[in-house]
Amino acid sequence: MVELLPSILSADFAHLADQVAAAGRGGGTVVHVDVMDGHFVPNITLGPPLVKSLRKATRLTIDCHLMIENADEFIPAFAEAGADWISVHYEACRHLHRTLQLIAQHGMKPAVVVNPATRVDFLVDILPMVHHVLVMSVNPGFGGQKFIDFSLDKIRRLVDLRQELGLAFRIEVDGGVAHDTVARVVQAGADLLVAGNAVFGAGQPERDARSLLAAAREAAGEQVE
Ligand code: DX5
Ligand code: ZN
Repeated sequence: MVELLPSILSADFAHLADQVAAAGRGGGTVVHVDVMDGHFVPNITLGPPLVKSLRKATRLTIDCHLMIENADEFIPAFAEAGADWISVHYEACRHLHRTLQLIAQHGMKPAVVVNPATRVDFLVDILPMVHHVLVMSVNPGFGGQKFIDFSLDKIRRLVDLRQELGLAFRIEVDGGVAHDTVARVVQAGADLLVAGNAVFGAGQPERDARSLLAAAREAAGEQVE
């Protein structure tokens, strides 16, 4: 089942609860929160206090995408704030196995993220530990960038690895997911679709979430209501 994950990076923060509610009415099921530290990526954004407020404002699953160094230091704070899923970058974790364990020990679903330049084959040994793999289809740091086409090969490779290894992790894609790319992303095998600009960019999150999700479901061959 394909799911839409509105990325609040492109939302109007002054009206965040309303924007998230609208994206939820449009069919978004998971709120994607981009956490940036100005070191691992060239931008700074949000942290646990925002997640805490969001937790009170929505029943949707909260997916925190950590683009930070020293993720281990902050995992307890995200758990306390009410995060459901935490993804950490392969490129930012010196002891990835330990970090994934730590996330699970704090009662959250662990996930790993790969940048465009990282081969998914490096993940083989830790794939049994993750709830999902997040494939970055842009270089992390900013919303509204152009989709990198070879990300589709990574998604297909993950589908093959999942089959070969007999696993059930889900495949999330983040960056440039919009009307012109979503069908290819879904057909490659991704089922968790992050979208920032395509949902919030035009100021109509309910309408735009609904139409993007409909396009995704159609591409997946799912029944569209
Ligand atoms: C980028 C973030 C994304 C971002 C995607 O580093 O990880 O989640 O919000 O934005 P769009 O969908 O606009 O490419
Ligand atoms: Zn993200």
